[in-house]
Amino acid sequence: MPKTVRSIFLSLLVLLSMGPALMAADLPTPVTDVDYHPVDADQAALGQLLFYDKILSGNRNIACATCHHHKHAGSDALSLGIGEGGKGLGPERVFSEPGNTQNRRVPRHSPALFNVGAREFTTLFHDGRVSMAPSDASGFNTPAEEFLPASLATVASVQALFPMLSAVEMTGQTSENPVARALLRRQDYAWAVLVERIRTTSGYAPLFRDAFPDIEKPDDISITHIANAIGAFVNSEWRSDESPFDAYLRGDQAALDVSAKRGLELFYGKGGCVACHSGKFQTDHDFHAIAMPQFGPGRTRMFDPVARDQGRINETDSRDDAYKFRTPSLRNVAVTAPYGHTGAYGTLDAVVRHHLNPVAAFKAYDPAQAILPSNPRLAQVDFLVFDNAAEQAAIPAASELDPIDLTDPEVADLIAFLHSLTDKTGQKGRLGAPKSVPSGLPVDD
Ligand code: HEC
Ligand code: HEC
Repeated sequence: MPKTVRSIFLSLLVLLSMGPALMAADLPTPVTDVDYHPVDADQAALGQLLFYDKILSGNRNIACATCHHHKHAGSDALSLGIGEGGKGLGPERVFSEPGNTQNRRVPRHSPALFNVGAREFTTLFHDGRVSMAPSDASGFNTPAEEFLPASLATVASVQALFPMLSAVEMTGQTSENPVARALLRRQDYAWAVLVERIRTTSGYAPLFRDAFPDIEKPDDISITHIANAIGAFVNSEWRSDESPFDAYLRGDQAALDVSAKRGLELFYGKGGCVACHSGKFQTDHDFHAIAMPQFGPGRTRMFDPVARDQGRINETDSRDDAYKFRTPSLRNVAVTAPYGHTGAYGTLDAVVRHHLNPVAAFKAYDPAQAILPSNPRLAQVDFLVFDNAAEQAAIPAASELDPIDLTDPEVADLIAFLHSLTDKTGQKGRLGAPKSVPSGLPVDD
């Protein structure tokens, strides 16, 4: 081939390989049924009741739903919530006894639970401390280690066991109830006390019998059944794959308006969002440091000099993981404010702009935007970490995100795209909130 012809040919090849601005290959393929764990309907229906029943908390005063309520898209609309010792729901939640010195905030933001039942969700919590681990005898890696019961169906079942063991979330104080006292001795002893409560609440036995073939009498009910029922509910309730974005991926070009389409191009192109928010649910299920502002009690490790939360390092003990948190899925993100592992930002605009220059945004963060149930005693310590020079330097220094220049109209387009991830069916849930629960305890509504 003559040289000039060859170079024309080569430049043509280069041009062709660059293709249009956005290659179809960058977009995920549409979500389908096989992406999800199969769910038994009877187990999910039982799980719905357990999820809303305060009987699983030490003091019978808080349920899973208190922090993951249907009214608040599976979360609580607070930056940091109140678990044990609180009353009311969502933004109205307050400490029952404001002067009680045991009162503490939940250290991290309560996440919405959309698509947790998709098979690709194998790691849960902001720091990933519960995960599937096929090489482990139980199949999972968890803080319960050898005390984790066998035969847990999915990672959602496993996760359900841990709020029941958290003093600040559901257990309460040892001075208050036998669940907390049992927990002091061993984690599985606390579960045993809760199992006994369920066995002796007459309404539950027939439901367990219908849902699980290996249960004949109340004594057959185990913590595994309880966890698997809750897991079945969580896995099916908030499946969410009917947003305009899903319709677009399935071929309906008109599902997105022009602004959302430009936002999609930015998200999967120049905006660089897809580097972390990748795949069918806009998460790589990996951990990244992006300098999210921190406040509240933190999740401290032994010898921590200040109330802080170093995220993934808590699980791996690797310095490289300091201040990394799990990339959240962005499904229904427009209805799940506030954002970040402390719920630092109240609007999509603010959290997207944080990504454009994390270090500058971290330094400029105004604590007044945190949504924290008021408490004069805690208010004095909530933002102490802002006065700690070492921490204020370490968080931005760990950030992996390079600043990126986007114009205001581009940010608006990105936000229009994020709105196209809202799925009204998924947001509502499948079974919704029950009117009453077998224990007869009041249901949050
Ligand atoms: C006091 C509030 C509170 C209660 C009660 C509570 N949760 Fe949560 N939930 C949270 C917070 C906060 C997190 C994040 C914790 C972390 O990452 O360290 C979370 C995380 C989760 C996750 C992981 C989601 C993800 O994407 O990582 C699931 C699933 C979940 N909760 C289900 C439940 C179930 C089931 C119950 C009842 C057995 C329950 N929660 C009770 C606040 C609560
Ligand atoms: C380097 C990885 C990375 C990139 C790139 C990235 N994000 Fe994020 N994003 C994260 C992580 C990690 C969090 C959660 C941080 C935390 O909680 O501390 C997050 C949080 C968010 C949230 C809040 C979600 C919630 O439920 O709290 C939104 C919205 C968001 N990102 C949108 C975007 C957009 C839009 C882009 C592109 C402009 C982008 N992200 C680029 C890693 C990334």
